[in-house]
Amino acid sequence: MEIIKGSNGNYGLDISNLRAQTGLITYDPGYQNTSAYKSAISFVDGQQGILRYRGIPIEELANHSTFVETAYLLIYGHLPTKNELSVFSNYLNEYSLLHEDMIHFFHNIPQQAHPMATLSMMINSLSIFYQDVFDLEGQFTQNESLDITIARLISTIRTIAAFSYKKFKGEPFVYPRPDLRYCANFLNMMFANPVKPYEIDEEYVKLLNVLLILHADHEQNCSTSTVKLVGSSRVNLYASICAGICALWGPLHGGANQKVIEMLHWIHQGKIPVTEILEKAKSKSESFRLMGVGHRVYKTYDPRAAIIRNICMKKLIKNKKLDPLLEIALELEERILHDDYFVERRLYPNVDFYSGLVYRLLGIPTNMFTVMFAIGRMPGWIAQWKEMRDDNSRIGRPRQLYIGAEEAHYIPMEERRI
Ligand code: ACO
Repeated sequence: MEIIKGSNGNYGLDISNLRAQTGLITYDPGYQNTSAYKSAISFVDGQQGILRYRGIPIEELANHSTFVETAYLLIYGHLPTKNELSVFSNYLNEYSLLHEDMIHFFHNIPQQAHPMATLSMMINSLSIFYQDVFDLEGQFTQNESLDITIARLISTIRTIAAFSYKKFKGEPFVYPRPDLRYCANFLNMMFANPVKPYEIDEEYVKLLNVLLILHADHEQNCSTSTVKLVGSSRVNLYASICAGICALWGPLHGGANQKVIEMLHWIHQGKIPVTEILEKAKSKSESFRLMGVGHRVYKTYDPRAAIIRNICMKKLIKNKKLDPLLEIALELEERILHDDYFVERRLYPNVDFYSGLVYRLLGIPTNMFTVMFAIGRMPGWIAQWKEMRDDNSRIGRPRQLYIGAEEAHYIPMEERRI
């Protein structure tokens, strides 16, 4: 078996012929040691807390880039020139509108629907309206069609998210404006209404850019792997992304950001003290986990959580006023970092631990936090899907270790015994 060399001291054992050579398959629950793809998009070093997109450290992108520029970097492989960025931005504007017939869908969604259910349904519905760009094998008929589909997905996810909030509020939809940039446009669509225009705060725009950049890609996580597994059957990109959105929704993945705030609220409302919640998380007789804590890859502080924590602390110093939930989060973190249970298992706050506190500051409602994660992750999903398709990869199809009954026979109903 061949050893394959990757970058940054990464090596992999190629076991693709293992079964043919030995009759054995590998057993790897949760794919902890399985790399199904080679990828050049993002790099994570979980021991040292490093995250890079196309080689660029996440800290540099968070400081200097915008979400749209970072999206271009991830999808097309390099930082855009001025002209490339302008073409990309124009595409995002041009394809930011939802087909008007899709607007009617919102009218029939119950007001209390979870925004992630609405989002996944709407993204999949794009394939009803824009199906003509795929040929019989699910390939794009021309590169331009792919660029349009990419722009439509990145742009309309923002429109869908804002419209679902307006539906929840019972306010009229605010359409995207070509004179506003991506994040300002989103905040305007969310918070402007006919009687009260939204005053764009550049500080909020910067914060939103940073949050979306931090979420933009994270190699082969659960939702990205789902996008790729589904996409490997050559189904269209909208359907593949819809599957990724559903995977992200779960509380062990992107749904954790909503759960963190709910958990902090519990503590704040006196329903459970910090000490008790820590004991509950450590107890083997309970399935409860401390939300926003622990990570499959990071065995040190998640670099994204460090950036968001820093933002929270700066806001705190500036406003001299503590969000009571931030106060609780800081106390919880302090306890985790000095508790043997968490120290031994190398469990640290992850990206979801502090992100909700910044979303709260921007006025985003708690049940939309995972939608915000999905908006941020869209370029990563697309980049990873595109890389897989450009590699002409095989259909994803894991094996299993069968542990069921050996050959059994049909028993007529009257002879069956429990
Ligand atoms: N609270 C309490 N104990 C935990 C936690 C937690 N949040 N996370 C892991 N552990 C414990 C487990 O009980 C296990 O203990 P054991 O060895 O005594 O059995 C050990 O740490 C290892 O946990 P695993 O479940 O094997 O770790 P895995 O890599 O499979 O799971 C995961 C990672 C899902 C992120 C987990 O840490 C978790 O559930 N965290 C809470 C949910 C969360 O914040 N998810 C967001 C992750 S970031 C993201 O997806 C964007």
